Amino acid sequence: MSSADETPRSLFVVGLRNAHAMEKEAIAMMERQIASIEKYPEMKAKLEAHLQETHGQHQRLDRILDELGEDRSAFKDMAMNLMGNVNALTASMADDAILKSTFANFAFENFETAAYKSLIRMAELDGHTAAIPLLEQSLSEELAMARWIDEHVDDVTTRYVTVSHAGHDASL
Ligand SMILES: [Fe+2]
Repeated sequence: MSSADETPRSLFVVGLRNAHAMEKEAIAMMERQIASIEKYPEMKAKLEAHLQETHGQHQRLDRILDELGEDRSAFKDMAMNLMGNVNALTASMADDAILKSTFANFAFENFETAAYKSLIRMAELDGHTAAIPLLEQSLSEELAMARWIDEHVDDVTTRYVTVSHAGHDASL
């Protein structure tokens, strides 16, 4: 697939479009979870806050693509399906859906973190330094979200086990 026609600019644009699709997937994933989670209010509130951040990240990518002269109407976001299997499990209302969602979210936030690190490097290689502060802001938000999930796996698991052990539905 590689070709001499690929420039640092064209590769950066592909990376930006992929990230744009990634954030669209993130928004859909969090909206589904927020709609279903009832018994884990702290997780729900955090997802609501990160959903707002994610809309901002999506807009930053739009802005960078606009600055590069990319016609936003000329492409559609590719379906990522990165977390398709995990989402299917969650949608099936598995008894431990909250745990599966938490694991999936942790994986997704780390995926996003790596994607932004890569985009920052591409912006440097392309010399499009104006994009770097925007990408760094999104990177810091993804790192913070990944860290928060990491720090709350214990709490979520404790609540899941406690509620289940008391004979209640602890799924979401
Ligand atoms: Fe994120």
